[in-house]
Amino acid sequence: MTIIDVPASRNYQVIVGENLISQAGSRIKSFRKGVTAAIISDETVWELYGSPLEASLETAGFGTIHYTFPPGEASKNGENYLKILNFLAENKLTRSDVLVALGGGVTGDLTGFVAATYLRGVAYVQIPTSLLAMVDSSVGGKTAIDLPAGKNLAGAFYQPSLVLCDIAALSTLPQEIFRDGCGEIIKYGVLYDKALFDKLLAEGFSFDREAVIARCVELKRNVVAEDEFDTGARQKLNLGHTIGHGIEAQSRFTVSHGQAVATGMAIVASAGEKAGITSRDTVQAIRQILQKFGFPLTTEYSAQQLFTSALSDKKRSGGTVNLVVPRQIGDCILLPTPVSRLQNFIEAGLA
Ligand code: GLY
Repeated sequence: MTIIDVPASRNYQVIVGENLISQAGSRIKSFRKGVTAAIISDETVWELYGSPLEASLETAGFGTIHYTFPPGEASKNGENYLKILNFLAENKLTRSDVLVALGGGVTGDLTGFVAATYLRGVAYVQIPTSLLAMVDSSVGGKTAIDLPAGKNLAGAFYQPSLVLCDIAALSTLPQEIFRDGCGEIIKYGVLYDKALFDKLLAEGFSFDREAVIARCVELKRNVVAEDEFDTGARQKLNLGHTIGHGIEAQSRFTVSHGQAVATGMAIVASAGEKAGITSRDTVQAIRQILQKFGFPLTTEYSAQQLFTSALSDKKRSGGTVNLVVPRQIGDCILLPTPVSRLQNFIEAGLA
């Protein structure tokens, strides 16, 4: 088991290890005693892990209630958000109670936003069950729902009180969804850690789950400690995301986030080489690792299509988009790029 302390506007621990769902009650009890725990989950994850989580909470003296919704991004909407708020209000939850998000990124983002706004803020615990949620969305307090105009357009920075990454939960994850999370893990290597990158390149899918997840959480912790509210250093976590967002949006979200970001990394590295920023070796290493994990290196969409979608991305600021461009493995820069030059940049990456 590995414990990582996150210093932010609320300090908390991320615990990575086996069978943490069955320890959730005793761990949550250390900061919330004898109250109601409201578990929020999707129907698939609830089927798999709802009972052991409920049993663990009840053994530790919590009353439990639960709310489930259909799995998938479509549930991360305003209607579902209001339904959960009403569910909590009807069950008379107070600020001494606790919310528990059991599931992947959709559940964590949605529950976090509910927690940030119900009674102007109640405590919540993240129990991520997907690899992507363990290494990224459950840590750092970005909470959100989608609006018809785009993903994550309403949200808040609101840190959890505890994150439990139970790596046993990865055993029930479909291979495609596991691979999606690998895209984010590779991203951490490219951004900050050549040793992590080399390990993934050598070991492929058989990497040590606890060690690698804990390392990624540690890297994210460092970024959140430096820039919790995403005004500078945290923006580097968007490596591959501007072009990736374009691929996701053009595919009407049939291409998964992890795959789109992975392809986005390959394209931005190629464009970076043409701009004299990314070394040739780095482009080759990125292409090699993405191929090892089965990610496509390019996309069927044109630079103009990707540019159009990138413009509606919320990461745009005025007439500039902050692109994240690798120099070497473990060393990336923020490159403020005028919108007028973005399409040419993407074009160069596709060539
Ligand atoms: N997922 C990117 C961030 O937490 O900033």
